[in-house]
Amino acid sequence: MATKKAEAPKGKLGVLVVGLGAVTSTFMTGVLMARKGLAKPVGSMTQYDKIRVGKGADKKYLHYKDIVPIAELDDIVFGAWDVYPANAYESAINAEVLKEKDINPVKEELEAIKPMKAAFDKNYAKRLDGDNVKDAKDRWDMVEQLREDIRNFKKETGVDRVVVLWAASTEVYVPIDEEVHGSLEALEKAMKADDKERIAPSMCYAYAALSEGCPFIMGAPNTTVDIPAMWELSEKTGMPIAGKDFKTGQTLVKSGFAPIIGTRMLGLSGWFSTNILGNRDGLVLDEPANFRTKEVSKLSTLESILVPEEQPDLYGHGNDEDTQYYHKVRINYYPPRNDNKEGWDNIDIFGWMGYPMQIKINFLCRDSILAAPLCLDLVLLSDLAARAGRSGIQRFLSFFLKSPMHDYTKGEVPVNHLFQQYTMLKNAIREMGGYEADEEID
Ligand SMILES: NC(=O)c1ccc[n+]([C@@H]2O[C@H](COP(=O)([O-])OP(=O)(O)OC[C@H]3O[C@@H](n4cnc5c(N)ncnc54)[C@H](O)[C@@H]3O)[C@@H](O)[C@H]2O)c1
Repeated sequence: MATKKAEAPKGKLGVLVVGLGAVTSTFMTGVLMARKGLAKPVGSMTQYDKIRVGKGADKKYLHYKDIVPIAELDDIVFGAWDVYPANAYESAINAEVLKEKDINPVKEELEAIKPMKAAFDKNYAKRLDGDNVKDAKDRWDMVEQLREDIRNFKKETGVDRVVVLWAASTEVYVPIDEEVHGSLEALEKAMKADDKERIAPSMCYAYAALSEGCPFIMGAPNTTVDIPAMWELSEKTGMPIAGKDFKTGQTLVKSGFAPIIGTRMLGLSGWFSTNILGNRDGLVLDEPANFRTKEVSKLSTLESILVPEEQPDLYGHGNDEDTQYYHKVRINYYPPRNDNKEGWDNIDIFGWMGYPMQIKINFLCRDSILAAPLCLDLVLLSDLAARAGRSGIQRFLSFFLKSPMHDYTKGEVPVNHLFQQYTMLKNAIREMGGYEADEEID
């Protein structure tokens, strides 16, 4: 991966989202409202954060846009695919995340965003039954049709570049299988052979995006781009990939809070996390096979922050085999809450001489309100990374993701610690702005 100073953007940036649901309609509405000066993009690093560049007497704190050439909100042009035909306005109203007074000023622009037919297979999300779906002969045909969609979108809108963001429903869990996911050649062969069990529709979107020269971001916990075949394709096409699973509520808290326990050398015997939510995401996750995908992603956060093998006295207690703390994650579908998820964390810690203590965290959050700024940052930073010649896994984007991509075939361990992730993010911005990466204390 070559790291160079990012080139300045030319023309408009197309943002094609897979899934026009609660998260993406909130994202789009916020961007359009911010453009009109009617709302603030709160929570977005690219719009608010300032990073130190230079050292000693030369140090300055600058916004990202003053360090690297980030695309402007005014230059974004949206498009989408969805299983349901509702346009972005109808979707924002249906989602009930935002009040009508915060949607209506951009009603016309939202109405113009009509979803293209989805590449969909009901076996991957049984609870969905929309009919805005492509009639595809096989998985390879899905890819071809999606590629055509991207080309048409470019032609019709005149955008210069496109980023593809998956913020569609979580698919059923697809275990990584060397035989079909291990190389690009094997993946293509399986797509052509219509291997429906091992090739998820999301893989067709990722394949199509990368082949058309678009960065691809996986915002759900699907294993889509967590496979060597996709890494190979992204290197071949010179495109960045990022994933997976937006780090919004509970996992954000976890990756920020676990370092307190780890840094002060306290012990952990158990961490129980539970959630109630009632949006369509919650409905899909109520299906055990879909929840499994989420569970795997959510569980991975603690293991690389509080490592039992490194501190057996502190983290080697709790579960059946007495080798690790007990870590459990639950999501319960509870319609009255809609998008206003409530998360509880019960953390059993111990201190001096093993005396137990408990910490309780109750986060009453709004899922899509937390996810929208992540969509914006991931899109803008992936576009930037492409212009800086960064292809393949973008580790610096781990900051925004629950289960960061890493090359497990080389024994690489993902970085889950929020503040280490922040250092990686800042250093990547510095490098793409032509400054030196460093570890100075800010
Ligand atoms: N909001 C958060 O805090 C958060 C955090 C992490 C991850 N996520 C993930 O983001 C995704 C979106 O969440 P949401 O609340 O907007 O869900 P949602 O159900 O409101 O929207 C998802 C949309 O995707 C569509 N869809 C499903 N399969 C598709 C396909 N193959 N092609 C095109 N469209 C498809 C559905 O019809 C639906 O409209 C979910 O996978 C969720 O797990 C959300």
